[in-house]
Amino acid sequence: MCGIVGYVGKERCTDILVDALRKLEYRGYDSAGIAVFEGDRIKTVKAKGKIDEGLVKKLPQATFSATCGIGHTRWATHGEPSDVNAHPIGNGRVCIVHNGIIENYREIKTFLTGKGYGFESETDTETVAKLLDYYYNGDPIEAITKAIEDIEGAYSLGIIFREHKNTVYAVRKDSPLIVGKGDGESYIASDVTAILERTRDYYCLERGEIAVLDKSGIRFTDTHGETVEKELLTATWDVESAQKGGYEHFMLKEINEQPDALRNTVSPRIKDGLPNFEECGLTAEKIRSYRQIFIVGCGSAMHSGMVGKYLIEDLARVPVVVDIASEFRYRNPLVSEGDLVVIISQSGETADTLEALKISKRKGAETLAVVNVVGSSIAREADMVIYTNAGPEISVCSTKAYAVQVAFMYLFAFEVAYALGKIDESECRRLVAGLEEVPQKIKECLEDVSPYQYVASKIFNAQSLMYIGRGLDNALSMEGSLKLKEISYIHSEAYAAGELKHGTISLIEEGTPVIAVATQSALFEKTLSNVRTVKSRGAKVVMICKESEQLDKECADFKIGLPASEDLFLPLISVVAMQLIAYYTAVQRGCDVDKPRNLAKSVTVE
Ligand code: G6P
Repeated sequence: MCGIVGYVGKERCTDILVDALRKLEYRGYDSAGIAVFEGDRIKTVKAKGKIDEGLVKKLPQATFSATCGIGHTRWATHGEPSDVNAHPIGNGRVCIVHNGIIENYREIKTFLTGKGYGFESETDTETVAKLLDYYYNGDPIEAITKAIEDIEGAYSLGIIFREHKNTVYAVRKDSPLIVGKGDGESYIASDVTAILERTRDYYCLERGEIAVLDKSGIRFTDTHGETVEKELLTATWDVESAQKGGYEHFMLKEINEQPDALRNTVSPRIKDGLPNFEECGLTAEKIRSYRQIFIVGCGSAMHSGMVGKYLIEDLARVPVVVDIASEFRYRNPLVSEGDLVVIISQSGETADTLEALKISKRKGAETLAVVNVVGSSIAREADMVIYTNAGPEISVCSTKAYAVQVAFMYLFAFEVAYALGKIDESECRRLVAGLEEVPQKIKECLEDVSPYQYVASKIFNAQSLMYIGRGLDNALSMEGSLKLKEISYIHSEAYAAGELKHGTISLIEEGTPVIAVATQSALFEKTLSNVRTVKSRGAKVVMICKESEQLDKECADFKIGLPASEDLFLPLISVVAMQLIAYYTAVQRGCDVDKPRNLAKSVTVE
């Protein structure tokens, strides 16, 4: 999704802004631009397409002596990707970059047209730029305050005024924005990865606060002009973790980081061999008091919730409702006091998920956020927070962030089951010890990638593909199918193996690839009979199962064998196989693995 950067300091800022924008490429975008102070003017350069193919080629050689400016990567919502719709947007007096969506932009446009303003772009953003111009009477804070009173929707804004040279203003509502503090320089950015190379110190801008960055430093005011004191935070993520480190793609690097990521999520929540979530206030007593558990998220985060449902219901015998945040928020959910709502989000900024959290709180439920990005909006709004400690995830296609969410679900299910007396202490210890072995098993799966490359070579030409499985395997296959769709653009569906015969089996024809996940002994024969059914209709079957399973040619064309482990943990281990099949398939098809078309890393609009 769109990215904002801004710089005030002593150095030439064009390169700084462009470099920071490159760090935000992973969020997804289709045009990019910068605006800087050049002499007494604001100079804007922007272009459709990738930063290096569009914007960089348009930058005038050696003309920029500017030391202050703003920049943007745009992910089109209102108006197609084009030079004119790209940000920064404004006129000679005021220029802005904007993330989010202005819901009442039509009304504002009508109002401003009546005042004689003309509009060049199709964007909602231009209405804000012109509204700021309309209210500007020499005092930027006053203009910003008046403008944000009129606008509805989610936004974060970086603003420059020609008359206030070398000063950047920033304000936000719902869309995140941080303000970075360097040595004699300062920054604004949509997320901390944009500025990590230059500083780790930053402030989180809150709703209704205005940041003013100039040569003298950073000031925060409220909309009445009163100074606001803010806590300076320090990012713990290091620069290397936000770089490719020798891997061809971030996705491959992040897949390989999973053993460590899992340990970093699980280990801090184990005390004396038992799960312990007291750091965030989630005590056994509290767990016993909950009436029902909800798990809400979007995309991969929601898929990890599906795994949680299977585990918690099976082990702890309490009902768990899993919902997609965009559905949950509009269906008057049956959440009330006494319920626990687990909100899952890698970024902690997904607009629908954030709203689902707010609704749950309004309805009186207790909320537990499971997020990766420290200090994100969801983390700050929730009653309790668990950080998944996966480090920065740059690839749009989520891998390690999903795996750690699933690992959390395992530990959480053990804790709920133990707190409710559904498993005894020794069983709980045994399960926790089993989970602690998973990173090593995943490492084993990563040692030889040739089976995944082989499968990729067989499926990369397919039009469509099916994932089948039962129980936990079905929940995990949903994510496997999503990975393949996202990055290789091959259509695929994950289907409960036993449900296939009720319609979907009509899609199977000679040569249709089917990936069957069958890790659970209790369901193995059942899934196998579904596999035989598709095989006899011409499907080419890849089985993901225990290495020890003996399969004949009537069952599977190819087997991916998983290292020996207790059944319960095999689905989590099988994630790696599905991720790598998707990865190598996308590579063989020549797709832009880390930046798949139309997708954004952090979806801060509805
Ligand atoms: C986007 C990403 C997905 C992610 C989803 C939820 O669609 O492309 O990979 O699963 O948002 O993101 P969150 O940050 O809330 O986990």
